[in-house]
Amino acid sequence: MTAADKPKAGLEDTVATSSAICYLDGDRGVLAYCGYDIHELARHATFEEVCYLLWHRRLPTRAELGDLQSQLAASRPLPEPVIRLMKSLPQGDGMDALRTLTSALSHYDPDARDSSPQANYRKAVRLTAQLGTLVATSGRVNAGGGPIAPDPVLGQAGNFLYMLTGERPSALATRAFDVALILHADHELNASTFAARVAAATLTDIHSAVVAAIGTLKGPLHGGANAEVMKMLLDIGASAGVEKAEEVVRARLARKEKIPGFGHRVYHTEDPRATHLRQMSRDLGQRAGQTTWFEMSQRIEALVKAEKKLHPNVDFYSASTYHVLGIAIDLFTPIFAVSRVSGWTAHVLEQYANNRLIRPRAEYIGPEYPQRYRPVEQR
Ligand SMILES: CC(C)(COP(=O)(O)OP(=O)(O)OC[C@H]1O[C@@H](n2cnc3c(N)ncnc32)[C@H](O)[C@@H]1OP(=O)(O)O)[C@@H](O)C(=O)NCCC(=O)NCCS
Repeated sequence: MTAADKPKAGLEDTVATSSAICYLDGDRGVLAYCGYDIHELARHATFEEVCYLLWHRRLPTRAELGDLQSQLAASRPLPEPVIRLMKSLPQGDGMDALRTLTSALSHYDPDARDSSPQANYRKAVRLTAQLGTLVATSGRVNAGGGPIAPDPVLGQAGNFLYMLTGERPSALATRAFDVALILHADHELNASTFAARVAAATLTDIHSAVVAAIGTLKGPLHGGANAEVMKMLLDIGASAGVEKAEEVVRARLARKEKIPGFGHRVYHTEDPRATHLRQMSRDLGQRAGQTTWFEMSQRIEALVKAEKKLHPNVDFYSASTYHVLGIAIDLFTPIFAVSRVSGWTAHVLEQYANNRLIRPRAEYIGPEYPQRYRPVEQR
């Protein structure tokens, strides 16, 4: 291995595959799905249209969208044994439950033994529909409620809020959640998508690839950051005021701790998703008469920008947005998965379509070769 082969820590700036799904320019703060700028999609599209776009690389016609909506609606109800398993799990981390239950879904999938492109597409649609139901129902069951059957009239965003709360969500809450789903749907070779592609490249099944992705998303350096942001805000306390927020964050920075929701491997400027989530956090906070979380977040943003020149990422303002929507912290990262499963499956289908095993090399830095084996009594 030559000096030129030396790996970059964390594979920074390493181009690991070709993909037609997501365009990312970290210097200009551009994110686009199949050529469509995220701002354009956040203003005009629905999550279902975005799913179709990611899976087919083009927006659907009205008839195609109608077909997809029907397929999603038909796929939303969960197999009864999976609901029983959900109820039997100990209460704990929502991502642990999601990982186990997604794995369980594979046992009941009608296409479990079929890995044709058509069956894999059906499984991508099914997984996307089912993950929304899984997370909403888990949230409801953990809060002591009974499962609520999905309503075929509602879309993915409306159904999620309905199955979680048991109440018909307002148009504002539904649209806010729909936009949050759009913003989280894909992000090129982020850690969980890379994990999914590595798994898929062994030609394992799509459920296994999605389970690998869920386990990866859970980490606090990835999707787990949104829950950490809210824990930080709650630790500061709604009544403590913005000065206290500044004091707490300053102390954390002095201790060289990372502030959740800031920094990004690719963006060196504003994360375009944060632009929308900041606005949503402000608008929803004002409507709900709970502006404290937004004000606190803004003060933290200004401080971290001034002290560390770091911008908020997708996780920072999504925390206060979900909190104001009345969603429990334990569901924040699972909600990320409810959206990102569309991107994971799009990447898995792309990987299957033009596959080669992903098997990189490591620079060896261990003991010198060769070492002589000595019997255990001589060591
Ligand atoms: C996202 C993240 C993992 C990217 O990390 P990365 O590209 O590996 O960058 P590093 O962790 O090497 O950080 C580079 C420098 O910025 C600092 N930094 C990065 N993110 C920081 C944060 N959130 N708070 C404070 N400092 C941070 C690091 O301490 C490091 O400083 P140093 O060079 O003085 O040691 C990182 O920014 C992070 O941990 N953020 C918090 C978790 C988070 O919000 N994750 C969600 C990402 S969408």
